[in-house]
Amino acid sequence: MREVYLDNSATTQVTPGVAAVMQEVLTETYGNPSSLHRKGVAAERVITSARRVLAGACAVKEGEIYFTSGGTEANNTVIKGVARRRRRRGTHLITTKIEHPSVLYAYRALEEEGFQVTYLDVDREGLVHPEKVIAALREDTILVSVMHVNNEVGSVQPVAEIGKRLKTANKEILFHVDAVQSFGKLPVLPGNWQADLISFSAHKIHGPKGVGAFYCKGGVLLEPLLHGGDQEKGFRPGTENTAGIAGFAEAAQIAVQKQEENNRLMANLRQRMLAGIMEAIPDVFYNGQAGAAPHILSVTISGIKGEVLVHALEEHGIYISTGSACHSHRADPSHVLLAMGRAEKEIEASLRFSFSPYNTEEEIDYTLEKLRDNAANLRLFTRR
Ligand SMILES: Cc1ncc(COP(=O)(O)O)c(C=O)c1O
Repeated sequence: MREVYLDNSATTQVTPGVAAVMQEVLTETYGNPSSLHRKGVAAERVITSARRVLAGACAVKEGEIYFTSGGTEANNTVIKGVARRRRRRGTHLITTKIEHPSVLYAYRALEEEGFQVTYLDVDREGLVHPEKVIAALREDTILVSVMHVNNEVGSVQPVAEIGKRLKTANKEILFHVDAVQSFGKLPVLPGNWQADLISFSAHKIHGPKGVGAFYCKGGVLLEPLLHGGDQEKGFRPGTENTAGIAGFAEAAQIAVQKQEENNRLMANLRQRMLAGIMEAIPDVFYNGQAGAAPHILSVTISGIKGEVLVHALEEHGIYISTGSACHSHRADPSHVLLAMGRAEKEIEASLRFSFSPYNTEEEIDYTLEKLRDNAANLRLFTRR
């Protein structure tokens, strides 16, 4: 059956070039990077070179990049790590209501440890207003986390403005940005954002699953989650996933090099999909911000459960998502759309399409055709 994969915010296909780099490391450069002999040194070189690629992509120092097992571990390590380390300075933390669960639940876990957390509201477009961040600051605030691109609706947060205002108010407060959905698509420049901590993941940019990284500004210390050897300067002990790290760097290099071209391609596909849905199906609402990220499109098709459409399209080889993939096995309505003021009925009827530069206009047209037919049939069915 023909396949059209439009769930690229959940994960992406590893490209052949990335797989080839990983294969070479798995079978040839398989030494333990901590070993003193030649095999170990060769593996260590792979990691050093990957670190250089990531650091170069974000204009930071090589020593400020640390590899992890993914975005979830990066978020948990930096949030819990700096909060615990700085506990004596203060116990107040700030984040937003639309963060990824790996941020939200890390903050919830800190509440259990006695920290107080302010969860900021967003507007109907899914945007956090910088003045809300400033208004929430307290004498004892030590950390603020605001994501760059939201994974469900694609809203792009004003992180540069937030960073500037935050550091003007109090430069001791650390600023963390989850850039898992933006890295490789939009510029991720901690220097311009005055960010101290950034989280990354490889599998959203055609790299492998189970590998990620974080940026930690030189001089900022954190308590590691894991205890063990001194890999990643002790911030993340454990034998490195050398092949995964090499694949991540290869994917990052390609994504950053082709960023502008890819964005034009994806923005065109996104626009084609949105215009096509609006034209073909009545009672459709767009969820999000006018200038949202080029790869994510969230819409509500009133009267039809998103889940039903996901399965109907699957029958035609088309893969999309309701809300966020991370929620799809849970019954709770999307916390992001709830925070954006949507009613539960609207949330149930929401769909997310997410694009990659490897999708084509023809795939969009095929999806639109199947979507239109299925939506019409399902509506007839519901009315009966
Ligand atoms: C915004 C955001 N942060 C963090 C993550 C978690 O990354 P990983 O899947 O690598 O653990 C995701 C994954 O969907 C995400 O979209």
